[in-house]
Amino acid sequence: MKGTPLNDDIVDYMVDLFPVEDDLLRQLREDAITAGIPEIQISPEQGAFMQVFLRSTGARKVVEVGTLGGYSAIIMGRAMPEDGHVVTIERDPLRAEFARDQIRKAGLEKKITVMTGSGIDVLERELAGTGPYDFAFLDADKPGYVRYLELVYPLMRKGGVIAGDNALAWGNIADAKTDDPDVQGMQAFNRAMAEHPGIQASLVPVGDGMCIGVVM
Ligand SMILES: C[S@@+](CC[C@H](N)C(=O)[O-])C[C@H]1O[C@@H](n2cnc3c(N)ncnc32)[C@H](O)[C@@H]1O
Repeated sequence: MKGTPLNDDIVDYMVDLFPVEDDLLRQLREDAITAGIPEIQISPEQGAFMQVFLRSTGARKVVEVGTLGGYSAIIMGRAMPEDGHVVTIERDPLRAEFARDQIRKAGLEKKITVMTGSGIDVLERELAGTGPYDFAFLDADKPGYVRYLELVYPLMRKGGVIAGDNALAWGNIADAKTDDPDVQGMQAFNRAMAEHPGIQASLVPVGDGMCIGVVM
């Protein structure tokens, strides 16, 4: 057998044993549904993994593409030191405003900045030269990931890590015949990470999969 396939009982066990959600994050998810924001945030077990990762690497500077309602940004911000900072980019102004509100409620407004705009525009025009970053989290439109990788790579410090969510493409990542642009986007990104001469990468099967790569 190639590893242990996860099922709902195992995931529930993981989430119960290593909880990441408090009342604020649970309320954020409920308020997001009321506000018509889709439930496409990272899973709690991904959040726990990211917090362990950020604390273990002592990450102080993080960039995220794809804020949604601020769920992952708050999880990351909480795992960073007082002088740490997350800049997160969201195309949809209503989602960006919702996230800012949640970040204020979490008391993290000094640690997390939400920038409104397209990931490519903000990375090219506003964040160029703002590195070095310790961690980059890509979680926006899937066909854009390869370009995001090109844009964040020069912003990373040596030893910094780039991570892309949905590396398992909702279970379809191995479908070589897919014509779904989101799945194709993830296939292109995973391959770009695997073949990048300046990155050593691995696919971690947590949640819908995170392709993580360290900048060498
Ligand atoms: C999967 S959600 C992000 C989830 C968030 N990281 C979390 O776990 O809480 C993807 C978000 O990316 C945003 N998005 C999509 N395309 C984008 C783009 N080109 N630039 C910036 N944001 C984009 C969407 O509006 C959506 O809110």
